[in-house]
Amino acid sequence: MDKPAFPTFPRNFSWGVSTAAYQIEGAVAEDGRGPSSWDAFVAQPGRVVNGDTGEVACDHYHRYREDTALMKDLGIDAYRFSFSWPRIQPGGRGAVNAAGLGFYDKLVDGLLEAGITPAPTLFHWDTPLELEEAGGWLNRDTAERFAEYAGIVGGHFADRIPQWITINEPVVLTMLGYGAGIQAPGLALGFEALPAAHHLLLAHGLGVQALRSAGAGNIGIANNHAATWPASEHEEDLQAAGLYDNIANWIFADPILTGAYPPELEPFLPPVPDADLAVISTPIDWYGINSYNPTLVGAPTAGEAALVDGHELDASLPFSLREIEGYPRTDFDWPVVPAAFTELLLAFKDRYGEKLPPIYITENGAAFNDGPDGEGRVRDSRRIDYTDAHLRALKAAMDAGVDVRGYFHWSLLDNFEWAVGFSQRFGLVHVDYETQKRTPKDSYHWYQELIRSNKERPAGNDEGTLS
Ligand code: FCB
Repeated sequence: MDKPAFPTFPRNFSWGVSTAAYQIEGAVAEDGRGPSSWDAFVAQPGRVVNGDTGEVACDHYHRYREDTALMKDLGIDAYRFSFSWPRIQPGGRGAVNAAGLGFYDKLVDGLLEAGITPAPTLFHWDTPLELEEAGGWLNRDTAERFAEYAGIVGGHFADRIPQWITINEPVVLTMLGYGAGIQAPGLALGFEALPAAHHLLLAHGLGVQALRSAGAGNIGIANNHAATWPASEHEEDLQAAGLYDNIANWIFADPILTGAYPPELEPFLPPVPDADLAVISTPIDWYGINSYNPTLVGAPTAGEAALVDGHELDASLPFSLREIEGYPRTDFDWPVVPAAFTELLLAFKDRYGEKLPPIYITENGAAFNDGPDGEGRVRDSRRIDYTDAHLRALKAAMDAGVDVRGYFHWSLLDNFEWAVGFSQRFGLVHVDYETQKRTPKDSYHWYQELIRSNKERPAGNDEGTLS
């Protein structure tokens, strides 16, 4: 059978795009916003490529109407953005900044008017600086503060927001922020970072409870997951990959979905009260997976440090990350392996069975840095190929029984890509950072057609199959 022009999905499948506050908003000192861990981090020399910062970013704070119009034309069902905690509670506790909430009032009302479901994340890494300085996520109190903040935002928006995400990628904040020192707050604590993981998970559970008490429902989390491949079948590599798989994947999903940490990690974790696990496993309505590529892991390599996005990892770790050879690569040098996406989703189904709630893909996408050509057109066919292949891989997992309800592409706009600044472009829409001009790329038009073709398919062909 010929490959259909577009991957086909059930009619009620939700199509979306994702962004995050610090990556797009700018306006860091406007209308009473307090500083965050990221404002402090980017001010430290050498932390971010080219010394880039999110001070202006995509100026979305002032251009949200234009960006909403772009989303309306794109035809998406849902938009995943994040609330900036320090805009709403400048010091991370106590008094609410009405102007901060006011910005999101305008954004949310505009989305609803455009027929787009707001599906926000409460926290996408921009910890209020006062809390960071008091220990940040190493301090259990931050989880309590998060619950208070979740209750405020939930109470304000429960009547208008039909889908909620507590926290973005506890794994990346723990590993890159507190473990390897690559992202804010820039601490390189190795395994001593694991309390941050526990407090983020606790915050998630408390946040679910606070949202529900405030009348909000349809709640999930957005966690980063990657299929983990062992570097070889040798015992040392299998063991190292198994440990890494637990630290990168299952430590973040098991407690939420089963109420227990992976037993293999007990030696590394402080004693955890059962009451915490009960909070962390507060039932959620769906589970969000962010995924980009698989990880190849082997035993530590003598004298050779592993690299993550160009940064050296501590060579004393009990595993090493290896290059995946033989696949195309994005401009960020991430391997493109669509089959690993299917593999990951099937691993979730195998591991959790009946306990697995419906899944949303809360992020997936690729950095390709194509800019406008002489005619002003951005021919990013590599992003189209990446997305097409990953959607087909996703559909293959659905055909094998994984219940996936929606897909949010990362990202709507090119934006501030954390430690690599503006050097990597993930957007369906190109942003000229000098002029703030938005140019929809070829991939934007492709995604628009994909959505349209999936919505216009005749009834009775809901479960279109893929070859
Ligand atoms: C994820 C982050 C997101 C973005 C993409 C490329 O880890 O959640 O903010 O940076 O990677």
